[in-house]
Amino acid sequence: MNSLTTAAGATLAATDQYRPAFHYTAERNWLNDPNGLVYLNGTYHLFYQHNPFGADWGNMSWGHATSRDLLHWDEQPVAIPCDEHEAIFSGSAVFDQHNTSGLGTAANPPLVAIYTSAYSDAAPLPGRQAQSLAYSLDEGRTWTKYHGNPVLDRASADFRDPKVFWYDGGAGSYWVMVAVEAVQRQVVLYKSADLKAWEHLSTFGPANATGGVWECPDLFELPVDGNPEDNRWVLIVNINPGGIAGGSAGQYFVGEFDGVAFHSGSTVTEGLQKDSSRMREYGWLDWGRDYYAAVSFSNVPDGRRIMIGWMNNWDYARETPTGGWRSAMSLPREVSLTRVDGKVMLRQQAIDPLPERETGHVRLGPQPLASGVLDVPAAASVARIDVELEPGAAAGVGLVLRAGDDERTVLRYDTSDGMLRLDRRESGQVAFHETFPSIEAMAVPLQGGRLRLRVYLDRCSVEVFAQDGLATLTDLVFPGEASTGLAIFAEGEGAHLVVLDVVGR
Ligand code: FRU
Repeated sequence: MNSLTTAAGATLAATDQYRPAFHYTAERNWLNDPNGLVYLNGTYHLFYQHNPFGADWGNMSWGHATSRDLLHWDEQPVAIPCDEHEAIFSGSAVFDQHNTSGLGTAANPPLVAIYTSAYSDAAPLPGRQAQSLAYSLDEGRTWTKYHGNPVLDRASADFRDPKVFWYDGGAGSYWVMVAVEAVQRQVVLYKSADLKAWEHLSTFGPANATGGVWECPDLFELPVDGNPEDNRWVLIVNINPGGIAGGSAGQYFVGEFDGVAFHSGSTVTEGLQKDSSRMREYGWLDWGRDYYAAVSFSNVPDGRRIMIGWMNNWDYARETPTGGWRSAMSLPREVSLTRVDGKVMLRQQAIDPLPERETGHVRLGPQPLASGVLDVPAAASVARIDVELEPGAAAGVGLVLRAGDDERTVLRYDTSDGMLRLDRRESGQVAFHETFPSIEAMAVPLQGGRLRLRVYLDRCSVEVFAQDGLATLTDLVFPGEASTGLAIFAEGEGAHLVVLDVVGR
């Protein structure tokens, strides 16, 4: 077994036992935020924050992977490398179909990446963060930096993470950029006709969770319950630390964008927002610890909105006990809006990676669940688990995941407070960081007395989609390879299993 020394000096076993089967990881080295998510001619492009030279954060460049189905990814050469003047921080990519930028031709319009130049002390704008362009005329294979960079500079050290989209609405047709003044907890909006000259439109925030810097925003429009006459805009704001479960997390606001400013009825006004007891009232993309920097693809056909997050947390990302690679992306999620009890909410459903990989299938039909633990005859470390439960009079029901001799990850629904909790305190390797042993919690109202869960396990992760994706919870776990046990449990009498379905390998 090889070994690897971290910045902190700890020696890690360089084993691939945690390498996910169906989540994207770079073959080698460090990865964080998804960047430049764009679809073009049948190919999904995933660029990402990447250190080409090591398994720790640094030398930030855009790595690149491509996929035709969002499930199988082919790693490509580094797309935009850092140099002595700038690190290539997060940003987005657009297909400039009408060559508004003039960086391509009418016959061969460019893909344009809008990224943050994080300037070094040796650069002409030392220590600043400003927005820059790079373009590709060969569908993302090779990239050229625009000679007029940066295209947008606010003389700020914390102005980053531009997400650009084409706005076509009541106020006209133009490019819109949302980016952050991270330390101010503000999203700044700009417009442009050509991606090069930008004009300030408005500023949003601070609002709702403000306990950390704001990063990686996104803004998009979706119909409510599929009704094109009833659209809303969704503003995504990632925050670190100060997330709902501790450390990094993503919040969302539902509202209106009139081409100039974003307004939301789901903001809690200043003053009250400092009250941490309000935190559970805000919109969270995920209630776990390991879904951060989530943003959406541009140019996807049929109005589909697909997001990917970085499956890690800045609290301990540098310490996670993997080998020469570090960090995975979440499963891609298709997001939509739905009205629940009068409130418009996001629903998120994973692009399902398992049907075609199916080798094992276990199904338990309807039955009363006696108080106690029922072992499921399935070895589950790479699996999709669908379960529907009626807690009834039981105090709690749930699943024991990744169970081994002295390891378990427990997903438990508590009838008394209506919360679903994931407890990873005994999940396996937890001691690499003091904040890692944790219990995450999210409110999950029963529907017709029932709790429906879809859970994906993939060697070092647990992704929970509750009530068809109305609430999600993503956590990393590092169990032993042999810890593949799965069980259902009830605490007290009166619970029923409606169905359990496990597909895995
Ligand atoms: C978010 C982030 C971004 C920044 C990038 C640097 O995780 O801090 O704000 O652009 O990572 O790698």
